[in-house]
Amino acid sequence: MRQITLTQETREHQSARNALITACFADPQPGRAAFKLREDVAPIDKFSYVALDGATVIGSLRFYPLRLPNDAEVLMLGPLAIAPLLRGHRIGQRLVQHGVDMLKSTSYNGLIVIGDAGYFTALDFDVALTQHLKLPGIVAPLTLLGLEWHVEFLSQQSGMLRRIA
Ligand SMILES: CC(C)(COP(=O)(O)OP(=O)(O)OC[C@H]1O[C@@H](n2cnc3c(N)ncnc32)[C@H](O)[C@@H]1OP(=O)(O)O)[C@@H](O)C(=O)NCCC(=O)NCCS
Repeated sequence: MRQITLTQETREHQSARNALITACFADPQPGRAAFKLREDVAPIDKFSYVALDGATVIGSLRFYPLRLPNDAEVLMLGPLAIAPLLRGHRIGQRLVQHGVDMLKSTSYNGLIVIGDAGYFTALDFDVALTQHLKLPGIVAPLTLLGLEWHVEFLSQQSGMLRRIA
């Protein structure tokens, strides 16, 4: 039986992770909000995780910083990518849960994601938390959702999410 392990990404995983993300997001669209918010911004290395099948990278999860309307920093979940042949085994869910568990012991108070509403609602993300937030680009057919473990960190925010300068 396959043993899938989750771990923090290291340098040795990077080229396989890049190949996986390229394969999973074949057609990056510059007008999309997630693309604009990540443009020229580095993901946070210490919160980058991979799923391994043996030593092979079969999943990747990264987080990018961005600014809330009140200038506080928030992390945006994604990209999340699972190798096509291994989808449907809850590896994506496990990676997200792992990342969230790690972040809860940091100074971050919550997360946003631009993703499939059904997928992320099942992981406790909530559209109600982000209903007054705006994005600088195309969102549909995806949805902006939030998760907060410090009450009102997101839900009290109103206005535009911005790229970290
Ligand atoms: C989306 C993705 C990460 C899901 O990974 P996965 O490991 O196959 O997902 P899981 O096995 O954890 O799925 C768990 C549940 O979510 C459902 N699900 C999977 N993809 C979904 C989607 N795009 N929308 C809604 N539900 C989805 C599954 O059917 C499963 O439902 P169930 O609980 O009723 O059985 C994977 O399909 C992928 O890499 N897609 C391409 C990149 C992408 O779109 N990333 C997400 C945006 S950042």
